[in-house]
This record gives sequence, C-alpha cells and structure tokens, in this order.
Amino acid sequence: MSTHEAATQSAPNNHADSGQQTLRQQILQAFHFRHACKTFDPARKISSEDFATIIEAGRLSPSSFGFEPWQFLLIQNPQLRAQLSENSWGGKRQFASASHVLIGMVRCAPGVRHDSDYIRHMMTEVQQLPAEVVSAKGGFFRTFQEQDFNLLESERSLTDWATHQTYLPLANMMTVAALLGIDSCPIEGFVQNVWEQQLQELTGIDNTLFKPVWALALGYRLTEPGEKTRRPLGDVLHRFD
Ligand SMILES: Cc1cc2nc3c(=O)[nH]c(=O)nc-3n(C[C@H](O)[C@H](O)[C@H](O)COP(=O)(O)O)c2cc1C
Repeated sequence: MSTHEAATQSAPNNHADSGQQTLRQQILQAFHFRHACKTFDPARKISSEDFATIIEAGRLSPSSFGFEPWQFLLIQNPQLRAQLSENSWGGKRQFASASHVLIGMVRCAPGVRHDSDYIRHMMTEVQQLPAEVVSAKGGFFRTFQEQDFNLLESERSLTDWATHQTYLPLANMMTVAALLGIDSCPIEGFVQNVWEQQLQELTGIDNTLFKPVWALALGYRLTEPGEKTRRPLGDVLHRFD
C-alpha cells in the first residue's frame, strides 16, 4: 500500500478521532464554564430556541422505572419572583436578575406509590404498555418500593426517593445551558414549607400533590466567577480493577 493510500484510508479514523477530541474538549469546557452564577445581566434574555432545548433536556431526563415524578414551573412574573424571594435566602439576586427561573416540583407520596392512579396512568397512557406488561412491571415496582428499597415505611421516604430523581433534570438542564453558553444557578436556599403554601396560593398548584425541591435560575453572567475548587480525582474515584 502506498503512503498516499495509507493516508487516505486512515483519514476517516483521524477525522473521527479529532472530532471526538473536539467533543471531549467542548464538554469539559462547558463543565468549567458552568458555575453557580449569583447575579445575571438583566438586559440579556435567553432565546426561545435555547430555552426550548434546555427544557427538552429536562423533559427527556431519566427516572426510576420511567415514571417522571416531577413537574417544572416557569416563573417569569416579576411580582411572583419577588414574593418567592422573600422566603429565599439563597436566590434573591438570582430571582431579581435571571432571564428565566424554573422551580422543580416533586410528585410526592402517596402519588408515587405503586398502586396510585398516576403510576397506572404512566404505564398505560404514557408508556402504552399492554395489560400483561403493566401487571408484571407493576409487580416489580411494588416489590422495589415495599422490599428492595423499603420506601413505604413512611411518606417521607417515598417522597425523598422521588425527590432524588428531580435532580437529574436539574443537572441535565444546567449542562445543556452551559453547552449553549448560558449561565445558571441551582437553588435550594428557600424555606420549603413556606414556598409550598405560597406556590399553592400564587399558582394554584395543589401542594398535597407537588412540593418545591429546587429552583434553577438561568441567564447570562455579569462578572467572571472565581477559580473552581474541587477535590482531586484520587479522592473521588476509587478503582477496583
Ligand atoms: C442542590 C444545590 C443547591 C444549591 N443551592 C444554592 C443556593 O440556594 N444559592 C446559591 O447561590 N447557590 C446554591 N448552590 C450552588 C453551590 O453553592 C455551588 O454549586 C457550589 O458551591 C460549587 O460551585 P460551582 O457550582 O460554582 O462550581 C446549590 C447547588 C446545588 C447543587
């Protein structure tokens, strides 16, 4: 094989390798770019196309058994944001300046019990499973909740299990935002039971069905963040080869 032939034959792989290398760099750049942005440029708004991409990443996020125990509220009304801000020590500057504010709501117990109407709705109407699969999957799910994870010992454990899952769309939306050059701040700095009441009064959401677990402010930074601090990889990853 001539040098020319060898070069031509290896070209696709080189392309693929360099494409992969570029992608890796873009991904890690996005993770370095993302930081907990405290104050956003109030003059800069996220385009509807970018926002649609971010929320789609949230919608497509994985959940246990595919049951999506969440809802997202988009809070754009300034008065609403100001009222919520009164009971949020961790989000005041973010709510006042962000282009978009989302609140992650968990579907709580008993709405996520194996025998709830919602779980049946998910299996039959959303996942469109045939009756025999609904029965089998429902059986696995019951064992999972009753025994494997012991989730039915209290409403709190069941709601906590569902709550954990809501952090997956949160993380995915922050990563997608960062890939699009959009800043974000995840926020748990609020008084949860006061927000529960307020959100019911202000938005009509039934707080026996859904509770707020996080807020996500999105927009564009005003100033550059400080240096990122993280533990070294050796402290985080333990290998067993
Ligand atoms: C679940 C969660 C809740 C957080 N709550 C707040 C908050 O209420 N207010 C805030 O300014 N930052 C909040 N943060 C941001 C963290 O303080 C920040 O991510 C952490 O210090 C690491 O810094 P970095 O994100 O800039 O790399 C929260 C982060 C997470 C993951």
